[in-house]
Amino acid sequence: MTSICDERGQELLYGGIPISEILKKDIGIGGVVSLLWFQRCLPPYVCKFFEMCLMVTADHGPAVSGAHNTIVCARAGKDLVSSLVSGLLTIGDRFGGALDGAARQFSEAYDTGLSPMEFVNTMRKKGQLIMGIGHRVKSLNNPDMRVKIIKEFVMEHFPARPLFSYALEVEKITTSKKPNLILNVDGVIAVCFVDLLRNSGCFTREEAQEYIEMGSINSLFVLGRSIGFIGHYMDQKRLKQGLYRHPWDDISYVLPEQYN
Ligand code: ACO
Ligand code: LMR
Repeated sequence: MTSICDERGQELLYGGIPISEILKKDIGIGGVVSLLWFQRCLPPYVCKFFEMCLMVTADHGPAVSGAHNTIVCARAGKDLVSSLVSGLLTIGDRFGGALDGAARQFSEAYDTGLSPMEFVNTMRKKGQLIMGIGHRVKSLNNPDMRVKIIKEFVMEHFPARPLFSYALEVEKITTSKKPNLILNVDGVIAVCFVDLLRNSGCFTREEAQEYIEMGSINSLFVLGRSIGFIGHYMDQKRLKQGLYRHPWDDISYVLPEQYN
């Protein structure tokens, strides 16, 4: 069974809509995402939210895990797909792939009626990190403009945003402990994604829950950052960068005593 795209007729259908109509309506990449991921035309503010997330997550420089892997792979002479995949494989709980975990943790805490303080304390007692909180370089003193841009859009356009407001309360508590424990770009996209699934009026409560449980919330970061990884691949080839070898002075060799 398949339910997103039909290529059998004269014209390709995305979510039942012919591509000529899609182009005529100028629904953009956000509209195509809404048809192929959710099989429905979502309202313009939702499509705009998707596009904005793709744009702000498209790249964050060469030093982050994924871009670094893509660059090393490209410099080892590998092809576009291998280099892209090598970058994508780093996306997970610590880097760029905390959205699914954040959506689950925050929505569960909110749904069970835990106050933000109770949520933070419960997670600490369990010895678990809160997904979507914390950043290596961004902090209260070095704010993340990506997060600010998304926050402002959501405040202005989302009809209701209870999980986003809850996450901001959590952030107040975590940043009072350490300034880098901000609601990060993964976290803000995740809670707003849940808010739109639950409150846009386009999904039933069951559908919204199914999307959270199936692990679909990482999708925007994965798609967005692929743009950057492809850019890094082309950049390395263009700059004719040779094989990468990590410098010895950056490695601590900690072999057992007898081998030193
Ligand atoms: N929840 C609770 N406590 C945290 C969290 C968190 N998410 N993140 C860090 N802390 C705690 C650490 O346990 C540590 O406590 P300690 O000093 O008592 O040992 C303290 O804060 C300091 O942590 P740092 O060393 O400053 O954090 P680090 O720079 O190593 O980690 C990271 C940054 C990996 C992003 C981390 O915060 C984390 O794992 N967050 C959750 C996952 C996440 O959201 N990842 C996406 C990041 S954004 C992106 O990749 C696009
Ligand atoms: C990113 O978007 O890749 C980052 O927020 C991670 C980082 O450490 O910069």
